[in-house]
Amino acid sequence: MTHASVETIIGERRSQPHQLIEVLQDIQEAHGYISQEAATTVSAHLGVPLIEVYRAASFYKALSLEPRGKHVITLCMGTACHVRGSHVLLDQASSKLGMDNGGTTKDGLFTVERVNCLGACAIGPVAVFNDVYHHHMTSAKLSSLIDAVLTAEKAGEADAQG
Ligand code: FES
Repeated sequence: MTHASVETIIGERRSQPHQLIEVLQDIQEAHGYISQEAATTVSAHLGVPLIEVYRAASFYKALSLEPRGKHVITLCMGTACHVRGSHVLLDQASSKLGMDNGGTTKDGLFTVERVNCLGACAIGPVAVFNDVYHHHMTSAKLSSLIDAVLTAEKAGEADAQG
């Protein structure tokens, strides 16, 4: 797969400092994360201090400073979701995928990440699975979502091998 270079992405914008977030979103979409090199390039081209680039990349949940897996599970660990068992979901997803308290699997297939509040506290625990919001998440639902992806990935591998 080819990705647009950071310079191309910046060139498609007008390289104005106020476009920092849009540029970072484009890089995130094309590359899956904001690398150190990309952050430096954005800083230089947009004339925005590097610390501001990192601040924005750290603040916005849609942006990541580390590579994310192909499939992203975001679990809300806010108070309302925590009291409804989101920590159990985190433990479950982590152990099922062979990781310790979230992170990215070694094969790059899954990232499990935590957020503090997704703004839907009344219907927690809330999880976002590949950009789709799920309310009242349970261990069984989460497990079957992960299983469905694993099955689809295995089927895809089998198809690719012909
Ligand atoms: S605490 Fe989970 S949505 Fe607010």
